Amino acid sequence: MKYSIEQCNLINVPEISDKRGSLVYYEFEKEFNFPILRNYIIYDVPSGHSRGHHAHKKLEQLIVCLYGSFDIEIFDGTDSREITLNTPKTALYVCPMIWRVMKNFSKDAVCSVLASQKFDENDYIRNKEDFLRTIS
Ligand code: TYD
Repeated sequence: MKYSIEQCNLINVPEISDKRGSLVYYEFEKEFNFPILRNYIIYDVPSGHSRGHHAHKKLEQLIVCLYGSFDIEIFDGTDSREITLNTPKTALYVCPMIWRVMKNFSKDAVCSVLASQKFDENDYIRNKEDFLRTIS
């Protein structure tokens, strides 16, 4: 199966607000279709640093900016797209075999990643040449 950035959609959820504050939710089979086995959170990224620079063989992810902002560049080997995430009301779904780079983190940015599998270093492709070779 050839994966493409066309499959990496932005998911916008309604904000439920009242005088006590705001709430958003991402629910299985409503906003996403994979079981979540892991949540990891990225924060305190020093100015000018980027993260990611890898693809995953099987992992599916929902990437949400809980606070602040950052940009994410996704690349399927042919096409690329850069997206700014800056609200918990929007998540980016990232399918397998997408090279991603996360950058331009604001000082206060908090990024939450909901992932379909437990951590497995064997699922990573960390070398861009290997990624391009694998998808060709
Ligand atoms: P890494 O994948 O390099 O982070 P990023 O996607 O932001 O570039 O992960 C950094 C380190 O943390 C690396 O040694 C692997 C480890 N790690 C875990 O142990 N569990 C996890 O769920 C994740 C995402 C990373």
